[in-house]
Amino acid sequence: MAKLAVRGGPPLRPQGYPEWPVHDERDVEAVAMAVRSGRWGGFPEPGPLAAELSTRFAAYQGAGHGVAMCNGTVTMEVALKALGIGWGDEVVVPALTFSATPYAAMTAGALPVFCDVVPDTLTIDPDQVEAAVTPRTRAIMPVHLGHQMADMDRIMEIARRHSLAVVEDCAHAPGQRWRGQGAGSIGDFGSFSHQSYKILTSGEGGSLLTDDEDLARRAHSLIDCGRPKDAAEKEYTFGANYRLSELQAALLLVALERFPAQQAERAENARRFQELAARIPGVRPLPPDGRITRWSFYCYVLLIEPEAFAGARNGPVCGALQAEGVGCWAGYPPMSRYDLFQPSLSRLPVAVAHAARLDPARMSFPVAERLALRQTVYLDENVFRAGRRGVEDAVEALAKIQRHATELNGHGA
Ligand SMILES: Cc1ncc(COP(=O)(O)O)c(C=O)c1O
Repeated sequence: MAKLAVRGGPPLRPQGYPEWPVHDERDVEAVAMAVRSGRWGGFPEPGPLAAELSTRFAAYQGAGHGVAMCNGTVTMEVALKALGIGWGDEVVVPALTFSATPYAAMTAGALPVFCDVVPDTLTIDPDQVEAAVTPRTRAIMPVHLGHQMADMDRIMEIARRHSLAVVEDCAHAPGQRWRGQGAGSIGDFGSFSHQSYKILTSGEGGSLLTDDEDLARRAHSLIDCGRPKDAAEKEYTFGANYRLSELQAALLLVALERFPAQQAERAENARRFQELAARIPGVRPLPPDGRITRWSFYCYVLLIEPEAFAGARNGPVCGALQAEGVGCWAGYPPMSRYDLFQPSLSRLPVAVAHAARLDPARMSFPVAERLALRQTVYLDENVFRAGRRGVEDAVEALAKIQRHATELNGHGA
């Protein structure tokens, strides 16, 4: 009789994990108040709740200014446009991220130039960034992936030396700090997503942070159909409607109140998880970079050795974990697997115009490819919000799958 839940056996954690998003009467009341106020939209920009959110979130991350907008993809597009980056420019992006990061560069008109990642953190490899810089390079977009942060010491040093801008993709990293500095407050801009699964959510939404008042003013204008944000500016500039609604801002203000306690809980439980998971042969948790001084994360990324799971790769192992009641997924594919960036397949003009630089034959990212296609397991945030027992069960589920891994044979291994 099968032991693994994925093959019909009893699940190890049938009760699953706490729901996300967390909500209670405070959220309902905050939205009700926004509804009763009659001020629903984001125009005039910013709305009072969006302005309050931006101030409070920027302060939480340690940045001077915040600009709330409709998602965490346009935040990056707006950041690049505010920096004056566009046609003919190159932007350096990691080969392992969500498609939104390079897509944002392309919508700004720039060419994303991909670099492989380092195996211990799965974030952009600074040596490769250095090698990728050309006279056309204008910006680096490090992504703080999973529970790690990109090596901001090296990234900022390279950026300074080559006069490049830095736009941090912090969709996974609200609350993280690097040597005491908040994620998104280190580069010229920090971009955050408030989409449903992210740890500071209003269903959809995004925040852009910066210390530069002038850049913040330009971002406000770009998301408000180009309206001037300064008495000196009389004409409309270039822009579209990327505003955040007041209903979403109301939800985010409540979410921000809950955030510090959730962050501390996840960090504490993840430390325990790492200790326990490291004892299973063929399971490799990746301890956070020692320069991360406040730990906060959207998902925890660990590596499995398929050889220790009867040859099963991350996809089937994640399927088995889910069936045991542990939320997870195998993660992003490497950029070499995205059709969007293959010039012969992409319909985007920027890809066609830069076909030579986007030639799939040149797209080889051995680390991202090896890890993403065989080894990465992204554990959901709620695994770390169910006390010690929650992480012990996740570890036991991994051990159980390993013990009975032969049951996975022939199922996509
Ligand atoms: C790394 C990363 N960057 C950017 C985004 C885009 O955010 P959004 O879905 O809010 O546009 C996401 C998530 O969806 C993400 O995971």
